Formats: sequence, structure tokens, C-alpha cells
Amino acid sequence: MTVPPLIVAPSILAADFARLAEEVRAVEGAADWLHVDVMDNHFVPNLTIGLPVVQSLRAATELPFDVHLMITDPHRWAPGYADAGAYNVTFHAEACDNPVALAKDLRAAGAKAGLAIDRDTPIEPYLELLPSFDTLLIMTIKAGFGGQRFLPELLDKVSAARRHVDAGHLELRIEVDGGIAADTIEQAAAAGADAFVAGTAVYGADDPAEAVRRLRGLAERAASGV
Ligand code: DX5
Ligand code: ZN
Repeated sequence: MTVPPLIVAPSILAADFARLAEEVRAVEGAADWLHVDVMDNHFVPNLTIGLPVVQSLRAATELPFDVHLMITDPHRWAPGYADAGAYNVTFHAEACDNPVALAKDLRAAGAKAGLAIDRDTPIEPYLELLPSFDTLLIMTIKAGFGGQRFLPELLDKVSAARRHVDAGHLELRIEVDGGIAADTIEQAAAAGADAFVAGTAVYGADDPAEAVRRLRGLAERAASGV
């Protein structure tokens, strides 16, 4: 299988929850991953969906699931998402006291392991853990809600991570999440991100698949420096 140079992952947080399967099919063929935001009203002050919805949705599409857990006690819950067939399971550094152990458990359960860094968390303490991970998700907003304004100053963390990943020849996706749209994705790509979550910019568009293709084009151009 060829490795796609860039990943675009529509977030179903911005989709119509009464028509989830249809909304997912609207981006099939255009999206690389489907980003699934799980929130527990403890780690963040918002409540979304959990394992039963992920299990049902898994049967409705071939798209790989990129599960973003914004929950406390991820050690207890995260492996269940791997068992449910998620391709990548990302948990928050702020919610976990042994991220490397959980990454191992996720990989043993057959998923890729992702580490998420929220707005107010510095990246430096986590750089040395990255060989244990497949994905590093750097929030470009404060985690919790879709539709927020992109915070460009958080791209300094993306650049620092990119330098570290390239210097160490690590195989790791650097993913950005929050406020990614046509007017922000190029900056994120230029800073070194190679996976892009977009909720409002995809599901707020008249044609979600076309929105994904447009975002990919912008990111590809910015990443290649032309
Ligand atoms: C928010 C979620 C995001 C959210 C992004 O905490 O992690 O994935 O869906 O939404 P937009 O793209 O609208 O900022
Ligand atoms: Zn997310």
C-alpha cells in the first residue's frame, strides 16, 4: 500500500448526528481518515459520542477511523476503541500519567497510537516519547468544541515537532486539529503538519467531498513550497 503524503480527516463533530452514516458516505473517496471526537464532559466541558456509536458506524463505512479521545482515564477506555476497529486511537497527554504504556496497549490491540497535546500544554516534555507513537495531534484551538478560531501561535509546536521527527527519522504523522479551513491549512502545512482535521470547513460546505479535495490541494501546494 502506498503511504499518502497528506491526510485529510473530516471531523463528524460538525456533521448531522441524526444522519451520521449518510454524512460519512458523503466524504468517502475524498477523505483519508474519518475523525471521531469522543468527549466525556469531564476532560472537556462537552459531551459527544462513545463506543456504541463508533461500533455502529464502523459497519457503515470503509474509511479508517481516527478516534480523538477527549476523556479522563483513557487507559480504561481507549483499548475498547482499538477493539472496535479504529485505525488510530489518540488520547490526551494531559489525561494520562503513563502515555508510553497506553501506546503499547493500543498497538497490541491492533491500532495506531496517537498522543494529543492541548492548547496550553508545551510540546517539549513529550518529544522524547514520540518513538512510541504513530500520530502526534497538536491542537490548534482549546479542545472541546468545533467552530473555534484557529490559533496560529500554536504552530510553533508543530514546527518544533517536525524538526524533532525529521532529525530522528521517526515515522510519525503530525496532525493539526481546530479551525483548519481554506484560509489556515496552508500555514499548518508549511509548519510541518501532514494530517489535517477539518470539521466546520468540510461539513459546513455545500459539497463536503469537494471541500476535502480543495483543502488537500491547498495543503499539498503549501507543503511542497510552491
Ligand atoms: C474539537 C475537536 C475537533 C473539532 C474541529 O475539540 O477536537 O476535531 O471537530 O472542528 P473545527 O474544524 O470546526 O474547528
Ligand atoms: Zn478532534
